[in-house]
Amino acid sequence: MSFRTLDQVDLRGKRVLVREDFNVPMQDGKITDDTRLRMAIPTIALLRKAGAKVILISHFDRPKGKRVPSMSLKPVVEPLSKLIGTEVGFAGDCIGEVAERAVGFLKPGGVLLLENLRYHAGEEANDVNFAKQLAVLGDLYVNDAFSASHRAHASIEAIAHLLPAYAGEDMRRELAALDAALGHPQRPVMGIVGGSKVSTKIELLNHLVSKLDKLAIGGGMANTFLYAQGWEVGASYCEKDLADEARGIVRNAGRNHCELLLPIDIVVGENAQPGAAARVRGLGELDEHERILDAGPETVERLNHAMDSSKTLIWNGPLGVFEVPPFDKGTLAAARHAAELAKAGKLVAVAGGGDTLSALNAAGVCGDFTFVSTAGGAFLEWMEGKTLPGVAALLASR
Ligand code: 3PG
Repeated sequence: MSFRTLDQVDLRGKRVLVREDFNVPMQDGKITDDTRLRMAIPTIALLRKAGAKVILISHFDRPKGKRVPSMSLKPVVEPLSKLIGTEVGFAGDCIGEVAERAVGFLKPGGVLLLENLRYHAGEEANDVNFAKQLAVLGDLYVNDAFSASHRAHASIEAIAHLLPAYAGEDMRRELAALDAALGHPQRPVMGIVGGSKVSTKIELLNHLVSKLDKLAIGGGMANTFLYAQGWEVGASYCEKDLADEARGIVRNAGRNHCELLLPIDIVVGENAQPGAAARVRGLGELDEHERILDAGPETVERLNHAMDSSKTLIWNGPLGVFEVPPFDKGTLAAARHAAELAKAGKLVAVAGGGDTLSALNAAGVCGDFTFVSTAGGAFLEWMEGKTLPGVAALLASR
């Protein structure tokens, strides 16, 4: 994929409108995880160094076109200023006079954050008139928000057709990593997909079996596959109505010569409470009231062997209830094994989506993976093989 990138343009004195994803976890007006702010720094630093006027735009939460005070982007200003090392200005609206005046005061190298885009209904409606009101604020547009690029919203899609559009540094990094994992991977390429629901990942699993050499299925969703093969699952979470879909995915894997790795042993417990008794069992060997809460040791060992003989790994979703020890063992052991291989240069290990980041953080290995995406929905849609509207718009505007 080739995009217009920021090294191809003279940025001096230019007003650059940068779409970030500052949809960060927040509690009582305080950011609890600033990863997405830190990811924005390389693009902001590059623009400032080149003498551009930096105008940051983002959504936060889902105010649905209304001014919801608790969904203001204002709490981002202070931590962002600290990270950048300069005072970030703030405008109480992202369009109109308020925004235009604030942009007018910007000096080269200055940084301004505009209020939540989703305070205006035109954002989510991908409304061209709203996009035009944003576009008058800039000379160029940069999309640095991969994690929001699955949304065909005005600040992601429509605007990219109104201004010369560029990929930001983080967007570039993210797309290069994803391409190395699934677009043009070194083979053999293996996937691990966990999490609780098959229902949300049917498309993803069907796409992956057509792309990967091996696919391990874990977490609650593996229960549905076990049930579909006739195993007892006791009181486990299981989408029994999706047994046919699960069998279809198994057949599809066979047709595509993708080796499917389902659990070969399980860890069961009566509930997912911290410190609850955990028992290792063979498949089907559980009482009616017991639940499968983690992958068994033999399953993890087989998974680790599969990683040893792979060159690339793409991981989404935990193998068990990793938030509740002792049911975190399978996820942590596999994550640490992948991290060791990645650190030793033997495996390109890419992870992302949903709980994956928290699971890898719990294992203390985020930094050792080749790449960990902070994207949720965007990562999943990309794994499903879909074209993300924000990425497509950047390509179209070359
Ligand atoms: C995310 O956090 O995944 C993105 O910011 C998208 O947010 P949304 O699901 O509210 O569109």
